[in-house]
Order: sequence, then C-alpha cells, then structure tokens
Amino acid sequence: MTTDQLDDEAVAPAPRGGARPRVVLGVSGGIAAYKACELLRRLTESGHDVTVVPTAAALEFVGAPTWAALSGKPVAADVWSSVHEVPHVRIGQEADLVVVAPATADLMAKAAHGLADDLLTSTLLTARCPVVFAPAMHTEMWEHPATVANVATLRQRGAVVIEPAEGRLTGKDTGKGRLPEAVEIFEIATQVLARGQSAPDLAGRHVVVSAGGTREYLDPVRFLGNRSSGLQGYALATAAAARGAEVTLVAANVSLPDPAGVKVLHVESTAQLGEAVVSAAASADAVVMAAAPADFRPMTVAGTKIKKAEDGSSPAIELTQNADILAGLSQSRSRPGQVVVGFAAETGDDSGTVLEHARAKLARQGCDLLVVNDVSGGAVFGSTENDGVILDADGAVTTVGRGSKSVLAHVIWDHVVARWA
Ligand code: CTP
Repeated sequence: MTTDQLDDEAVAPAPRGGARPRVVLGVSGGIAAYKACELLRRLTESGHDVTVVPTAAALEFVGAPTWAALSGKPVAADVWSSVHEVPHVRIGQEADLVVVAPATADLMAKAAHGLADDLLTSTLLTARCPVVFAPAMHTEMWEHPATVANVATLRQRGAVVIEPAEGRLTGKDTGKGRLPEAVEIFEIATQVLARGQSAPDLAGRHVVVSAGGTREYLDPVRFLGNRSSGLQGYALATAAAARGAEVTLVAANVSLPDPAGVKVLHVESTAQLGEAVVSAAASADAVVMAAAPADFRPMTVAGTKIKKAEDGSSPAIELTQNADILAGLSQSRSRPGQVVVGFAAETGDDSGTVLEHARAKLARQGCDLLVVNDVSGGAVFGSTENDGVILDADGAVTTVGRGSKSVLAHVIWDHVVARWA
C-alpha cells in the first residue's frame, strides 16, 4: 500500500510554532490494526511527531515496514532494540499523548494491571501524559466482566477509553466492538492532546445532546424542515467524549458520520426527538438541546402523495404546535443537579435586540444556560465556525468569539462543569 491509496480528505491544519507534539501510536493485535494506518497518516500530516509502538501480535496483521514508512521512524515491538537509548522508558516519558488503536481486551488487561512485558505496555507505565484507548474486539469480550472492570480501572486513572462502535465485526457477526473510523479517533485524540494535562472532567457523567433539524411530514415524500446541519451538536458530542463522558446523541436528519465513542440515536420528527431525549435524560447529568426541532407539524399526514388539484387550486396546510422539549425538560428535571442547556437562534427586530429576546427566552424556558446565536442573514447554518453568547440563569454573560464549533462546544461544557460544581 502507498500513502496515495489512503483517503485523501483534508486533515486538521498543522500546529504552528514550538516543537511538534509527540504522539505515541500504540497498536495492539486486532484485525482493525489496518485502520491505524490511516490514523497514523492523519496524525503525521497534521504536524505531529508520531512514534508507532506495535505489539508483536499487531505485527502479524500489519508489518513493521508499513509503520516505519508512514511514520518516518524505526519501529520496534520489544525492549531489546536500541537498548542504549532506553526506549522502554524514554518513549513514554517524552510523549505528549499516547493513543492505542486498536486496543485489545488483552492490552487493556495488561495496562489495567500494570504489566510491562513489551515496549507498548512499558510505554504505558512510564507515560505521564494523557492516554486514549480505542478498543476493538468481539462483543462478548467487550461485555465480559473482566474487560468491564479493566476499562473502569483505566477510566478511574484518567485515561479516555472510547466506547467501541456497533457494526460488522471480523467474522460474519455484528455487534458492539468495532473500532470507530480513523477520522473520528483522530478528532478525539487531537482534542485530548489540545487539553493537555486537564483531567477528563466529564468522566463518570452521562450527557445527552440533540442535533440537526426535524422533519414534519405532509405525505410520504414531502416534509417541512429547516436548515440545521447538526455540526454544532456533533461537535458537542465529540468534545464530551474527548472529556470522558458517556454520550447519547439524538440526531435528527444529520448526514455526518457518527462521532467516535458516542451512542447515536437517529430520529426524524420532533415527536421522535422528544421521546428519545426525554428517555435518555432520565439517567443524564446534562442535556444540551442543540437541535432545531420544528415548532409546528401538519395537522394531518396524508397516507398517499398529495396530488395537484385539477382546478389549479392550492391545498391549505393546517398546522398544529409541537411540544417544547426544552421547556418540558427544564420544568421536570429527571435528576437532581441535572443541567439543561438550550440554544436560541435569534434575530433582532423592532421589539428588541438579539440579547433581549434571548433573555426573555431563557426566563420562559427555565433552562440553566442558553447559547445565543445571532442568525440574521442565516449566518451559522452549515458553517464549521460559530460564535455566540452564553447566558447563565444566574445572570452571567459570556461572549465566545468566532472560532470552530469545537471551541464553542468546549466552552459550553466548561459552563456545564461549573454549574455542577
Ligand atoms: N426547542 C425544543 N422544542 C421545540 C422547539 C425548540 O426543545 N419544539 C429548543 C431548541 O432545541 C433550542 C431552544 O428550544 O434549544 C430554542 O429554539 P428556538 O427555535 O430558537 O426557539 P423557540 O422556542 O422555537 O422560539 P421562537 O421560535 O419563538 O423564537
């Protein structure tokens, strides 16, 4: 394989200034080791200095020449190569991030128990930087009490263990245990790296995020919809996963890949979105309503396609109002201390400014935080960037300047964490 054969999609820009961040890419012995080649390419092309440390079993799946060629560095699995450089201690000590993908049940068991019988496990014992495990294994192994306990131990010690995806596994079987796509692991890994030594402060928390725009059907082929792309909600879900949360993402008609480590529930209408969010909220520490649910739906949905009238007359569409999910969640909190966050897409008019309308909405809906976007001219829809003002029910106002939706997502989670405190 040459690097040209890999997906050529653009990767995040290289960090500017200072030394290149040092990343150790640990690869353990699973068939998904081949996906780590693309993760490696994304890491190197975005300016990271990557040392690949495979296990001996990983080298059965993908050979050392591949790792050496893609990383531009020699590759060893044992501690007996270049002994004078003491690699079993040095590589871990010097790392800014260790990401293990795929992480097998065996590798995580060794890491949880502090075994150090090869270069990767030795590196994990000497590393003092953030560590991300991206597990991949059969469902039975993932659900085995031994693995469950080992994952819990690793998380308690501050590692981010990404929940595996559901889907096709090695054989003909399907289930939970798939390695998430390389691009999604890359997102989590680079966000963990950017946060440096900050602990995964959402670990042990369950958060629910809604994203996208709902569709309200008129007949089997036509619907009323809106322009929400789901990008901000997906950025919130990825940011929460990178900070260690268990994340449920309720996605309405979003055409983005599922973020790594996130449970995604796909819905269409406001009623379905409400049902999924309210049900997930029962065990949630925070709910962030980034979705744009339709406020109205047609009174009736035709069972067959509505035909044009022969006399040329236009049909009238009678609408009825949908329930306000955010207001319902805010009024009847399913758990004490649950933080509820709303979004407000506002435009200023004769009756008030954007912020005046937003303050009235915060009071009306009773949520804890309201993220306000000025959408005059449709500015935010489909854009990868956003800005906003975060209104806190206690009166605090925080302005977040224009930046990636991921930056705004992290500021929102900072506010949620502050409210928990
Ligand atoms: N929202 C909701 N349920 C609805 C409509 C909106 O939970 N049926 C939530 C959105 O997810 C968002 C917040 O309410 O977090 C505000 O949405 P927005 O469309 O700005 O406001 P509306 O309440 O619809 O108010 P209006 O259209 O009157 O400005």
